[in-house]
Amino acid sequence: MVTGIVSMLLMSSPATAQDGEALYKGNCTACHKIDKKVIGPALQGARANWAERTGSDDAIIAWIKNSQGYMKETGDAYAKQLYEDYNKTVMTPMALSTDEVAAILDYVDNWQPETPVAATTAEGGGAASAPESTGNPTIWLIVIIAVLFVVFRVLWGVNKSLTNLNRQKDNDEPAPSVDMFTEFIGFFTKNKAVMVVVFLLIATYVGVLTWDMLNGVGVYQGYQPKQPIWFSHKIHAGQNGINCVYCHNSVEKGKSAGIPSVNICMNCHMGVQEGKVSGTKEIAKIYDAIGWDPDKLQYTEGYDQKPIEWVRIHNLQDFVYFNHSQHVVVGKQECQTCHGPIEEMDEVYQYSELTMGWCINCHRETNVSMDNNGYYESIHAELVEKYKGEGLETFTVEHIGGLECVKCHY
Ligand code: HEC
Ligand code: HEC
Ligand code: HEC
Ligand code: HEC
Ligand code: HEC
Ligand code: HEC
Repeated sequence: MVTGIVSMLLMSSPATAQDGEALYKGNCTACHKIDKKVIGPALQGARANWAERTGSDDAIIAWIKNSQGYMKETGDAYAKQLYEDYNKTVMTPMALSTDEVAAILDYVDNWQPETPVAATTAEGGGAASAPESTGNPTIWLIVIIAVLFVVFRVLWGVNKSLTNLNRQKDNDEPAPSVDMFTEFIGFFTKNKAVMVVVFLLIATYVGVLTWDMLNGVGVYQGYQPKQPIWFSHKIHAGQNGINCVYCHNSVEKGKSAGIPSVNICMNCHMGVQEGKVSGTKEIAKIYDAIGWDPDKLQYTEGYDQKPIEWVRIHNLQDFVYFNHSQHVVVGKQECQTCHGPIEEMDEVYQYSELTMGWCINCHRETNVSMDNNGYYESIHAELVEKYKGEGLETFTVEHIGGLECVKCHY
């Protein structure tokens, strides 16, 4: 009996303040801001207005749950006018309970404007407060050589003045002035052993570099160029769970995955004008590209649109044929197998080597999924027949010809 009451109480416990915030962010921010008109009106004060007009919260709650239904049922002239004023933009019906809508309205009532967390850092220039890439190893090599050179130069200078000091003490003439370079060369010709060691070091370095280059290691892997807009996959694909195919919409249909056009960004960024990391700074670049005025909420007429010039990261040479839909749809490979944990990257980098050896290894190791695949029915039967001797039932990409030169090279 007691437990029954308790569980009933628990079940009917009204939505809390945190729920209000989460529900608001999950259902309303695509079209509303609290203090500003976006696609729908600013929500601040709406509850009070509706309550004053209709006598309670019931009307506004019914409206939020299903605005079209509410208008049909009540014929509320205010609501009809509002609908007209917003160019008949339909507010989608929401599967929310009365408590949940009330929690959203509580959240709206108690809301305080906040400054974006990192707005100050974003002002400091550079592409927002995005983590900097660790940089390219060659740059570090150059830095190290430069530092060594400076150290050598200083030591040489100190050594020279000390010698001169000694000579002055002994009332000798100052040492004849020889420039550093001549002295450097002189040192090596006099010390053959040192010369051999240095030569060996240089030879090893060049050898390793050449070996790496032949193997494709470190040439492009890890490549992470700066992009014109600080676009974060972590925020979009990770935190907001947007499907890869929503933006890379040719990945299942064709050879290349495709980079989304500005119009796709605008599907959401007509409403989302501010980010937590970069404030309005980076999103403003989208508006600048397409000519959208976020204050007037309209496209600027006669504006010369400019595409966003994303820097291409993955790039096979022209003599290689690679097809995405073949791998993603037919081969059922996950994006992450080849591209790494994209949904955790603020800035995309090249995760895999993208060398011939990399392609071949996977083709040797990966089984082709032939079950429930009409295309492979007869091929599978033929392969079972062909490899009867070895008793194979499953087949790798190698078995279907994935190591043949012409499959990848035109
Ligand atoms: C698809 C866009 C969209 C979404 C999502 C949306 N709204 Fe709206 N909302 C509108 C539009 C547009 C209007 C103006 C009336 C109309 O066109 O139907 C409006 C009007 C309103 C009004 C009346 C404001 C006034 O000044 O009287 C309230 C309140 C409201 N919305 C609350 C919400 C809440 C709460 C949510 C989330 C649970 C939500 N809306 C989600 C588009 C949306
Ligand atoms: C909201 C849109 C959006 C979503 C969702 C999205 N991407 Fe992207 N993606 C982009 C944009 C824009 C670029 C170009 C800028 C960049 O490289 O960061 C890009 C670049 C890439 C690149 C590098 C392209 C190159 O130049 O070589 C890869 C790989 C990639 N995305 C994979 C993914 C995967 C995997 C997912 C899902 C986990 C995903 N993307 C989800 C918009 C999106
Ligand atoms: C499906 C909806 C959707 C699409 C499409 C989309 N975005 Fe976003 N974007 C969001 C949301 C949600 C946020 C998060 C706002 C926040 O920080 O809470 C966001 C945030 C951002 C931010 C700010 C990040 C920060 O925190 O500072 C930038 C910049 C951005 N998006 C650029 C783009 C670009 C460029 C495209 C097109 C290639 C794009 N977005 C497409 C929904 C979308
Ligand atoms: C089997 C490995 C593999 C898988 C799986 C894969 N990719 Fe790729 N991806 C590549 C290679 C290789 C390139 C370089 C292609 C080129 O230069 O022609 C590439 C390039 C890209 C690019 C750059 C632009 C373009 O159009 O080629 C994007 C974006 C991309 N991939 C997104 C995705 C997404 C999203 C998925 C999952 C739905 C995915 N990839 C799955 C290997 C893969
Ligand atoms: C993560 C594993 C993986 C990687 C890496 C990979 N592939 Fe594949 N590839 C597959 C699978 C699985 C199939 C079989 C698809 C199917 O079922 O037809 C395939 C099929 C192919 C085919 C068609 C073969 C045929 O006989 O029909 C070509 C061409 C191909 N891949 C090219 C490439 C190239 C080029 C690369 C490197 C840039 C590459 N693949 C990297 C897994 C991979
Ligand atoms: C599974 C796909 C695949 C197969 C099969 C394949 N290659 Fe390649 N090949 C590649 C890729 C990927 C590259 C590297 C391209 C790049 O660096 O952008 C490459 C590069 C090459 C290069 C140029 C090397 C260089 O350093 O630029 C030669 C030559 C070559 N392949 C010959 C062959 C021959 C011969 C065969 C048949 C025995 C073959 N390939 C089979 C994918 C393949």
